[in-house]
Amino acid sequence: MTGRDNVLWLQCWRDRQTGFHQKAVNQLLAKFWPNLALARGSRVFVPLCGKSLDMIWLANQGHEVIGVELSPIAVRAFFRENNLRPSRRQVGKFTLWKHDRLSILCGDYFSLSEHDLGQIDTVYDRAALTALPEDLRQRYVAHLKLIVQETTNIFLLTTEDAEENQTPSQVLGVAEEIKTLYSEDFKIDLAHVESVFEVDPTSQNKLAERTEYKVYRLSTRSG
Ligand SMILES: C[S@@+](CC[C@H](N)C(=O)[O-])C[C@H]1O[C@@H](n2cnc3c(N)ncnc32)[C@H](O)[C@@H]1O
Repeated sequence: MTGRDNVLWLQCWRDRQTGFHQKAVNQLLAKFWPNLALARGSRVFVPLCGKSLDMIWLANQGHEVIGVELSPIAVRAFFRENNLRPSRRQVGKFTLWKHDRLSILCGDYFSLSEHDLGQIDTVYDRAALTALPEDLRQRYVAHLKLIVQETTNIFLLTTEDAEENQTPSQVLGVAEEIKTLYSEDFKIDLAHVESVFEVDPTSQNKLAERTEYKVYRLSTRSG
């Protein structure tokens, strides 16, 4: 249920349980985004954006950045921590916070319409699809297809734990799931894989486990 998930995410931000937040710009974004060769004024949608510094980086490339984020705590923190003074106004069910090329619609992604968002060239997804529980991912992708255009491409970063095998979708793997969710409408190009051996500090056995950081470029079949 979306309602229950939303309550949990809002609680995360209230309790400062935001381990997913990266204190620096994502290195795979900085390294592989330029290969897209997007024009400076291109409009980039960042679903489930949190207070990601990647939005600052994207705006610095000359893009118009439009994020959507449920938690007003996250949105306020994003602008305050980057010393920006945004304007704020109501747009339908959302509060639009805006500063120069950076806009964040504060509200529920699943209530967002194509009209709220406007034309989008590329979606930047880092820890959005994969942050959602498996039963919501199909709905997330179906909704994404409704609110962006047929020509909109997706730049997707994932973190895939090679040892995970507890649930049916994890047995199949995130890569298979991405294929199932997107291949009908997109050509899927795995642009980069970075394998890192990491010890999970919460794990009993203290053995290093392989984590793969992947860069996917999804190009629309009708583009
Ligand atoms: C794992 S975090 C990732 C944030 C960001 N992409 C990053 O890289 O730091 C997921 C974010 O999605 C937000 N979120 C979850 N469900 C949402 C929804 N239905 N609508 C809008 N935002 C949502 C959460 O509040 C959280 O900030």
